[in-house]
Amino acid sequence: MRKPIKAVLIGTAAAALLAPCTINAFAHSEHGGPKDPRDTTLGALGQRSGVRIGTAVDMAALADDAPYRAKAASEFSSVTPENVMKWEVVEPSRGRYDWKEADKLVDFARANGQLVRGHTLLWHNQLPSWLTTGDFTADELRAILRKHITDEARHFKGRIWQWDVVNEAFNDDGTLRDSIWLRKLGPGYIADAFRWAHAADPKAKLFINDYNIEGVNAKSTALHDLVVKLRKQHVPIDGVGIQGHLSVQYNAPHDIAENMKRFDALGLETAITEADVRVPMPSDSTEQEAQAEGYDVLLRGCLLTRKCTDFTVWGFTDKYSWVPGTFEGEGAANLYDENYRAKPAYSALRDDLLLAAGRG
Ligand code: G3I
Repeated sequence: MRKPIKAVLIGTAAAALLAPCTINAFAHSEHGGPKDPRDTTLGALGQRSGVRIGTAVDMAALADDAPYRAKAASEFSSVTPENVMKWEVVEPSRGRYDWKEADKLVDFARANGQLVRGHTLLWHNQLPSWLTTGDFTADELRAILRKHITDEARHFKGRIWQWDVVNEAFNDDGTLRDSIWLRKLGPGYIADAFRWAHAADPKAKLFINDYNIEGVNAKSTALHDLVVKLRKQHVPIDGVGIQGHLSVQYNAPHDIAENMKRFDALGLETAITEADVRVPMPSDSTEQEAQAEGYDVLLRGCLLTRKCTDFTVWGFTDKYSWVPGTFEGEGAANLYDENYRAKPAYSALRDDLLLAAGRG
């Protein structure tokens, strides 16, 4: 359980924490990270406040890029597979599993004293073609889903700290996303997924995860109301994952703490699960400072929320990022540039963690 950080934060006018931050010019070695030997990694600083600082991991980069592997091992205290625990990867054909890459990440984490966020048991995307092209009855699809969730959660039993059980179930207007799951199984698929995951691995913390739920809006309120209902039905749901994919072209979610406190009040854990802040390319110093503010707002929201247990960035270097391939003309969304040089966003996170640890 996290030590109360309210004393530190209130002492520094917590409300001001969500105001745009001032970037302290920490001297950084050219290869990223602070010069001062006393200073330490984001992961180590975060643990002083009971928050794991994690990163999504690209397994090809982990295998082929030594600086990437070194930074992934040293800077973070949790890891999330960017892709290798997704359905299309682990069950490429029905009933035939390929755990190779996912097991490599779990072994890497164990060797580095890191916890693993499992991502993701049930999503509408990155599904194998045998599933998306199959003509299954509702009963057949429910049995397939139950078997997949059970087999995957059992395979990793005892090795996953938090599972993203259900990913991106909502539309921005607060209605449930149209997917094969909703169409064929009805809204009950969500409760079923959590029950099956819990039966397979009772110790894992089970999260529902989504994007555009950083602030108080129709989507985050609909998700909140669903979780209230699920908890009343004694569905084993433990937490809410707030992805945190931001762009400097939009305002940072300054009401994030107000939003996250709603989940705290339900006794739920929360996590920022996929933080990145994309900028129009080529990026300039002003945009990098705006990017730093985005990361700062996300982390402060977590630090101000008692049961926020993890802050994960969706990749840490611009050298490997999903953003350019998805958002034309945008990129440079991560804490380090393509040469592993730390950006102002890195300093902003360090400042917040030093402050929260009472050393700022
Ligand atoms: O594995 C194939 C490879 O065999 C093929 O040669 C290559 C080129 O076609 O594609 C490879 O698959 C790619 C896969 O990443 C693995 O690298 C897919 O094309 C590509 O679409 C996929 O992108 C991933 C994306 O989810 C899919 O929606 C990103 O890497 C990943 O960062 C992103 O992550 C999601 C989270 O899981 C959920 N939240 C949103 C976030 C961003 O979309």
